[in-house]
Amino acid sequence: MLAKTLSYGLYGIDGFPVLVEADVSNGLPSCEIVGLGDTAIKESKERLKAGIKNSGLEYPTNKITINLAPADRKKEGTLFDLAMAMALLSATGQVKLNEQYIFIGELSLGGQIRAVNGILPILISARNAGYKKVIIPEKNAKEAGFISGMDIYAVKTLKQVVDFINGYLVLQTIKGSTFDEALKDDENYQNDFANVKGQASAKRALEIAAAGGHNVLMIGPPGSGKTMLAKCFPSILPDLTFEEALEITKIHSVVGQLDINKGIVTKRPFRTPHHTASQISITGGGNHAKPGEISLAHNGVLFLDEMPEYSRQTLETLRQPLEDGKITVSRANITVTYPANFMLIASMNPCPCGHYGSKTGECRCTPAQIHRYLSKLSGPLMDRIDLHVEVDSVTFSDLNDKANEESSASIKERVNKARKIQLERFNSPNHFSNAQMNHAQTKKYCTLSKDCEDLLEMAFNNLNLSARAYDRILKVARTIADLEGELCILPQHIAEAIQYRSLDRKYWV
Ligand SMILES: Nc1ncnc2c1ncn2[C@@H]1O[C@H](COP(=O)(O)OP(=O)(O)OP(=O)(O)O)[C@@H](O)[C@H]1O
Ligand SMILES: [Mg+2]
Ligand SMILES: [Zn+2]
Repeated sequence: MLAKTLSYGLYGIDGFPVLVEADVSNGLPSCEIVGLGDTAIKESKERLKAGIKNSGLEYPTNKITINLAPADRKKEGTLFDLAMAMALLSATGQVKLNEQYIFIGELSLGGQIRAVNGILPILISARNAGYKKVIIPEKNAKEAGFISGMDIYAVKTLKQVVDFINGYLVLQTIKGSTFDEALKDDENYQNDFANVKGQASAKRALEIAAAGGHNVLMIGPPGSGKTMLAKCFPSILPDLTFEEALEITKIHSVVGQLDINKGIVTKRPFRTPHHTASQISITGGGNHAKPGEISLAHNGVLFLDEMPEYSRQTLETLRQPLEDGKITVSRANITVTYPANFMLIASMNPCPCGHYGSKTGECRCTPAQIHRYLSKLSGPLMDRIDLHVEVDSVTFSDLNDKANEESSASIKERVNKARKIQLERFNSPNHFSNAQMNHAQTKKYCTLSKDCEDLLEMAFNNLNLSARAYDRILKVARTIADLEGELCILPQHIAEAIQYRSLDRKYWV
């Protein structure tokens, strides 16, 4: 007999419906699964057999054929197990499927339903496609609770599903969770700007970056506190909106990096790939075209400490996502686009010995050595970094100063205020910051007075800036004005924004 059930597969961070057909016919006992499945799917045979038997149900001793449709689309993972089991049980008359359910879950040999990756993106896609009822593993219930508009049932065992479908067991739909609740039980940050003495200009630049979502390069001698400053950065990032949190959660969910007890990401990611990390792990790709570090950093921070240590090739691949906020990865016959709208925070020494231009140490490098070191970072990459900050060694009097430094909480308040202005300005479900403005929006929201124009023209000619740098100055000036609650960009905002481009000239000419 033939029976059909419905499941959902993942393609990148989107779900697609998969029809599972099971046919049980006379013949020697065998089980074949067709429909472009990967190894995990081929291995489901064993899980199906043991899982069904150990649930006290009957596993057919005839010829079984299972087809996953559409048959021309690659399918991965263990999440189709439950739908395959239900199709088999329906084909053998052990369950009566009267309504349409989507079945998702991995089956254990003992008949338990195990958690799977990617529940959130699957449910969002299924809901948008108009499906109403879903059965998922209980361990994924927290994550599923953030989706409204569907009846979602969470189960522990295959037997429960069978009893529920046959009407012998009543299950409640899962209770929804709210984002505010999830935010509440969030722990505090370890690194606080209150512990960083002095370094006022670096702190100011990081505050602007956090407020407007801008990229920062910190350049300075060893021990000046660049790494320390970057580690404090997460503590002043603006609160996540629910839409941003969903975007991040989708990506973390498909790679299994989501805390399933929490169910949603409540903090902006802060990713710190090592300079020896492969290019694929940073940009994404590999056999399964999985998202890389830059996508896991979406709506958060990618921190590249000692930037010139990364391979030039890796750094160059950051150019496209830094511009577009997304990345397309291709592998064999799969091409997937992932969001990658991250803030780049980078640090570096100005030369191999680290002391070039510093007030405290003497540089022993030759001009050729310095040039070779800096040439790892191309002009186009530097263009995409909005704020360049020189961090010099902290002085003894700064370190010894008994006065209290401003806490991260107090800086974050200003950042949140400025971010709120931006959210109201763009009023769109996927535009959150000034850094995300395209050229037309930059023109619209960064109108300049004559004074500002003159100032910018002078800087443009003197500093030999590129067209890209021009737009970036405008966006940074917009953020500085937002931090001050000013509707119009004033000359002092432009002047400060220009100052953050000074490295263009100092090091890269
Ligand atoms: N402004 C500061 N206030 C308090 N402590 C500081 C400050 N700057 C540096 N330190 C101390 O010096 C240590 C070294 O700083 P950090 O590792 O951040 O320097 P760095 O600029 O990243 O150096 P490198 O270029 O060698 O990586 C810090 O862990 C901290 O203890
Ligand atoms: Mg460091
Ligand atoms: Zn040097």
